[in-house]
Amino acid sequence: MGSTAQIGVTGLAVMGRNLARNFARNGYTVAVHNRTAARTRALVEEFGGEGDFVATETAEEFVAALERPRRLVVMVKAGEPTDAVIAEFAPLLEPGDMIVDGGNAHFADTRRRERELRERGIHFVGTGVSGGEEGALNGPSIMPGGSAESYEALGPMLERIAARADDGAPCVTHVGPDGAGHFVKMVHNGIEYADMQLIGEAYQLLRDIAGYDPARIADVFRRWNTGRLDSYLIEITAEVLSHVDAATGKPFVDVVQDRAEQKGTGRWTVQTALDLGVPVSGIAEAVFARSLSGHADLRAASRGLPGPTARPLPPERAEAFADRVEQALYASKIVSYTQGFHQIAAASAEYGWGIDAGAVARIWRGGCIIRAAFLDRITAAYEADPGLVSLLSDAEFAREIGRAQDDWRSVVSLAVAEGVPVPGFAAALAYYDGMRADRLPAALTQGQRDYFGAHTYRRTDREGVFHTLWGGDRSEIEG
Ligand code: 6PG
Repeated sequence: MGSTAQIGVTGLAVMGRNLARNFARNGYTVAVHNRTAARTRALVEEFGGEGDFVATETAEEFVAALERPRRLVVMVKAGEPTDAVIAEFAPLLEPGDMIVDGGNAHFADTRRRERELRERGIHFVGTGVSGGEEGALNGPSIMPGGSAESYEALGPMLERIAARADDGAPCVTHVGPDGAGHFVKMVHNGIEYADMQLIGEAYQLLRDIAGYDPARIADVFRRWNTGRLDSYLIEITAEVLSHVDAATGKPFVDVVQDRAEQKGTGRWTVQTALDLGVPVSGIAEAVFARSLSGHADLRAASRGLPGPTARPLPPERAEAFADRVEQALYASKIVSYTQGFHQIAAASAEYGWGIDAGAVARIWRGGCIIRAAFLDRITAAYEADPGLVSLLSDAEFAREIGRAQDDWRSVVSLAVAEGVPVPGFAAALAYYDGMRADRLPAALTQGQRDYFGAHTYRRTDREGVFHTLWGGDRSEIEG
């Protein structure tokens, strides 16, 4: 067998299979490999007509089928299986070859793997791939890290298979070195969690306070999807809400257990943000809301605790309320993206990645789960000012939040009064108010820290570090 394949994919579960098909449909010869060969055979039997596949059974055959420098895409479960695949293939590779990890790996693992393989002359390209099964097949958003040299060899191929934004630009860019791609994918997922939580809160408010049924709420989301909230997640929300369970005839959303699961990328986003000292409160609330929902025992024990039960508004006031919820959702969404982009900027500075925030916004415009018309706006904000410190300080976003905020506040107040939990909306609003505050109670916190632990503080009027002799005469000393 000659070395004819321009790219190889190992790990042919649905994402790997669809990515391999995407490469083949775009004219590349694709070597395919799976731990159990039956899957490889099934892929070629079923989809062999879509392009040129080279089915291989052993690791040696797979590697031998690849043109040099070899491009080997690993699509296995993140974690231990990725290390096992690397251990199996790396000894068969030569300097200049590339291993592309398209799983949802933790960026710290990617940094470690990149370092280890670099010592052997092999490029390790940790790559975020978003868009689910459908995206993998028809065009995902792709977030590759790794060396600039590997991007030269891979970029053109990735650009061919990636989604395209409305202006035709491919949704892929070289995000930055080593773990930068997986880091950005992780934050993408954190934002995905926040978007989903905010949509969930909007749904709950429309249900409990507007008094709408799921079908009517689906219509509201459909309408919102024609405006500034136009996005994949709003679109599928309308689909899910209008779906009726065949077995019971009830709305599908009423027969599904209300316990949200997660595979962990949202949690990693928050853990990492804590280490970086970045306040991603909206994303954190989304992760916590999922875990709260999962504590069935605690929830059962808490049911019946005193508190208000939401009363639906009179029908003539429901529509105006729904419009206010749209404002709250939009404003909160701006905040979660602000937090996510802050986290990316902080990591970029910490690890020396040089990530271009505008380019990240550009490649999220198509293919990925958080794709939205809104990303055009973020792209424009970074184009206008590549050094933008915070999305909130972009003049256009600031204006929009300004217009939305009365409604945003009234929705949060009403939700609180009626006992409807809105952790995402409320956290976003608190972040906004925290950021715009002249003075925060952090001064008092500093005083308390100094009182009980001599932790010192800085003054507003003089340089230096100070301590008050709280247990003595309360005079102030420096240093
Ligand atoms: C994507 C998604 C995907 C993620 C799922 C599930 O961009 O295509 O982010 O990578 O795995 O959304 O995430 P949870 O199971 O954690 O909800």
